[in-house]
Amino acid sequence: MPEFPPRNPPRDRRTAVSDYRTPVSAMAPKKPPCLPSLLLPLLTLLLPQADTRSFVVDRDNDRFLLDGVPFRYVSGSLHYFRVPRVLWADRLFKMRMSGLNAVQFYVPWNYHEPEPGVYNFHGSRDLIAFLNEAAIANLLVILRPGPYICAEWDMGGLPAWLLRKPKIHLRTSDPDFLAAVDSWFKVLLPKIHPWLYHNGGNIISIQVENEYGSYRACDFNYMRHLAGLFRAILGDEILLFTTDGPEGLKCGSLEGLYTTVDFGPADNMTKIFTLLRKYEPHGPLVNSEYYTGWLDYWGQNHSTRSVHSVTNGLENMLKLGASVNMYMFHGGTNFGYWNGADEKGRFLPITTSYDYDAPISEAGDPTPKLFALRDVISKFQEIPLGPLPPPSPKMMLGPLTLHLDGDLLAFLNYLCPQGPIYSILPMTFEAVKQDHGFVLYRTYLSNTVSEPTRFWVPNNGVHDRAYVMVDGVFHGVLERNMKHKLFLTGQVGAKLDVLLESMGRLSFGSNTSDFKGLIEPPVLGQTILTRWLMFPLKVDKLVKWWFPLQLLKRSHPQTPSGPTFYSTMFAILGSSGDTFLYLPGWTKGQVWINGFNLGRYWTKRGPQQTLYVPRPLLYPRGALNKITLLELENAPPQPQVQFLDRPILNSTLHRTYVYSLSAEVQSDPEPMQLSGH
Ligand SMILES: *[C@@H]1O[C@H](CO)[C@@H](O)[C@H](O)[C@H]1NC(C)=O
Ligand SMILES: *[C@@H]1O[C@H](CO)[C@@H](O)[C@H](O)[C@H]1NC(C)=O
Ligand SMILES: *[C@@H]1O[C@H](CO)[C@@H](O)[C@H](O)[C@H]1NC(C)=O
Ligand SMILES: *[C@@H]1O[C@H](CO)[C@@H](O)[C@H](O)[C@H]1NC(C)=O
Repeated sequence: MPEFPPRNPPRDRRTAVSDYRTPVSAMAPKKPPCLPSLLLPLLTLLLPQADTRSFVVDRDNDRFLLDGVPFRYVSGSLHYFRVPRVLWADRLFKMRMSGLNAVQFYVPWNYHEPEPGVYNFHGSRDLIAFLNEAAIANLLVILRPGPYICAEWDMGGLPAWLLRKPKIHLRTSDPDFLAAVDSWFKVLLPKIHPWLYHNGGNIISIQVENEYGSYRACDFNYMRHLAGLFRAILGDEILLFTTDGPEGLKCGSLEGLYTTVDFGPADNMTKIFTLLRKYEPHGPLVNSEYYTGWLDYWGQNHSTRSVHSVTNGLENMLKLGASVNMYMFHGGTNFGYWNGADEKGRFLPITTSYDYDAPISEAGDPTPKLFALRDVISKFQEIPLGPLPPPSPKMMLGPLTLHLDGDLLAFLNYLCPQGPIYSILPMTFEAVKQDHGFVLYRTYLSNTVSEPTRFWVPNNGVHDRAYVMVDGVFHGVLERNMKHKLFLTGQVGAKLDVLLESMGRLSFGSNTSDFKGLIEPPVLGQTILTRWLMFPLKVDKLVKWWFPLQLLKRSHPQTPSGPTFYSTMFAILGSSGDTFLYLPGWTKGQVWINGFNLGRYWTKRGPQQTLYVPRPLLYPRGALNKITLLELENAPPQPQVQFLDRPILNSTLHRTYVYSLSAEVQSDPEPMQLSGH
């Protein structure tokens, strides 16, 4: 096992955690986790025999048995892909100290297989290291490997490259889809096998698919195929289960897979558990996703769930003897381009913060909700002795003034060193093999357009946002479902650049085939525009490798508008701390610290106004740090940012209204009104 940075928690505190059943050293297969060597001989004496390890459903008594002893789990969700690896141990330890005995998490396929047959299990993608950290924290594992996971994650965890076959039917027994799933699971599941509980690991159960009943395909052959694949690789002993909302039980549950439900504090527990009994007449009641909070969309209000409602609901379920997983216990962050999106009459991308109003905040701090939940749990089972670590130290800095590096078009040779792809009609991101981020579409006007003329993309064909430039001059934005037309003028031969941004693929809904880019050819006046150059942009590579060298000279005398890079260097005197990047007056864009993509900001829409900057990203004690922004629209007159000591997640400046489907088509809410704030 690779060494983990021994930040907090200190080792001695971990070993003081009272054990729920299994000695620490029994949890990790093959190699025991790193423990002080003095403790090892003692723990070895306590090791149960391998064949006594079992986790089963006791149907006669409506409960689980762990090693033959009645057991219930009180678990929490934590996504390793939303937390920097050096902080995994800290978050898991806090979950254990909250009284949880298990952690539940997904495996996002698209995070691990970036190209067909190319796998990444290194660094922050080292799933086995995470299992090991959970073992060290004395947490059992409920694993949800998909293939589809939702999770408000890009495309619900499915790789975008699946859409290179545009007719593929995702999440069905379409042979193209099954072939990709099979080859992925033949890599993933053998890694998991030694970590199954009865093999000496900490995984007690595995979920098949995710809320499949909410997907309109309702393809039982697909679910049977998955169940067969899991059984073939993992064997018959492991408990396999499904999770669905009450409306999804019909298509989501399957003979041979244990049926569980998900619902939140506002739902009628009695009614839903009664319905569950129709599908699973005997065995423990399980809520696999009990919502402690909720997600946020750009342009909608910040979501919260009151402490009282969440604790009340948990207490009621525990009184019934149910096993419960709290979703989320710690939400984390959609770094980079990884957020998903929903479709509710219009396209609604998820914010960068996945704080979720969860018991452990985005920055890893215990909240009042955590302490209240711990009190409830302590009424039902023993919880570890000892205090929770206090909130991490926070840092304030700034304001910092950023320098203009130049507009995006000036860097095209660096952003797309391989050159453009030519096609008569525009091609999608998927067709040019760009999974995330940005593609620049370029054509030249074949006629002079002297009167302002309508520029638009039929069939809502901008996925998801387009920044339009004529001869390098920014003319405005088109946005999926939100803004459908601009008026342009230009001479014959003028260069028309349309920068397309993917704001994250749909992660939930009846159809997750969410192609990105220009889905239809744009129209200017009466003319369908053809003969396109597509430049897939490697923005992250540029930020990481080129900007630190300061090779590129500034190209604009005055404050420009449209997609533009800004950056500055800064030093932190003394030690650094967790902090929150505030971008007042900026519009929308992407931001990097020391080459790490912190995610999207959208100050002018909200509700999220600050981005979480984990302390390990910053160099302390006078070393130079670099911040880079790609502002897509307009920078403030004073291009400044600030680091705050607390987040602002609840300030919605422009609202994205959710219309009914019928009302949606004609709406073109322009100009958008400032409201709130
Ligand atoms: C919850 O559902 C049960 C059973 O359907 C019903 O009797 C009860 O009135 C419901 N409670 C609430 C608060 O709606
Ligand atoms: C969102 O918040 C605003 C301001 O607090 C409020 O007026 C509005 O009703 C809220 N909208 C929803 C859908 O809750
Ligand atoms: C899903 O929607 C896309 C358009 O985004 C469409 O091309 C595709 O045919 C749809 N797939 C299914 C299975 O309905
Ligand atoms: C936002 O959250 C902060 C901190 O919880 C609170 O003080 C403030 O009143 C909230 N603002 C709005 C507009 O809800």
